[in-house]
Amino acid sequence: MKVLFIGDIFGNAGRRVLAAHLAAVVEKHDIDLCIANGENAAGGWGLTANILKKLHKYGVQVVTGGNHSFANQDILPAFESDPSLLRPLNFPPGNPGIGKTVYTLPDGRKAGVVNLQGRTFFPEALDCPFRLGLEAIEELRRETPVIIVDFHAEATSEKIAFATYIDGKASAVLGTHTHVQTADERVFPGGTAFISDVGMTGPEQSAIGMKTKGIVRRFLLQTPVRFEPSNDGPMLNAVVVDIDDATGRTAGIARVFERVQVP
Ligand SMILES: [Fe+2]
Repeated sequence: MKVLFIGDIFGNAGRRVLAAHLAAVVEKHDIDLCIANGENAAGGWGLTANILKKLHKYGVQVVTGGNHSFANQDILPAFESDPSLLRPLNFPPGNPGIGKTVYTLPDGRKAGVVNLQGRTFFPEALDCPFRLGLEAIEELRRETPVIIVDFHAEATSEKIAFATYIDGKASAVLGTHTHVQTADERVFPGGTAFISDVGMTGPEQSAIGMKTKGIVRRFLLQTPVRFEPSNDGPMLNAVVVDIDDATGRTAGIARVFERVQVP
């Protein structure tokens, strides 16, 4: 199974990249399943019900999240009605939504998807992603050996540590959240593909999605500044993971970094 995993879709620029270009990428790489982190798709902060619909229309089959998953009230009902919308599994019980799912392709093949959030440098008091992540993977393996984990975290060390911890049990551990694509993609000895961060599908000319002017002001003055999403330099950041359906082992992981002309 060939899986395209798209790094954090950021605002209008990211959405326009997918609208204009996703179908071509899917065709070029012969993709079976498209997963995207959508927690920044609405102006950088969370998702809306309307935007979720659009992402599905563009060809995203499973949407993962992170620390901004619950930013908009508007999206909360979708967590209960759309089984292909995930939020980090390790948020406290009582929050809407699910953190893992099994997605069935039209040809009947199944892929498990798990969404976790790291705990280093985050204010949220979350349950242990290592313990809950391993439990979730072991549960999903009863249905399919093909399992993709979105590990939404700040620290590269936490992401690498988790990937080595579960190496051989999941097909891929793909880092999200920093919006900067890293060049450390590899397959661990047990067959688990890894990258510290897939990057951002959004405006390259920005500070991780926002216009740099406000960000610089914030650093200089150390006072609150209202950040504005940038629309400049739309790009696609993603990875393509090639997974053996029978074993769940990954044969290869390739980065995708494309500057995209959008209408
Ligand atoms: Fe995030």
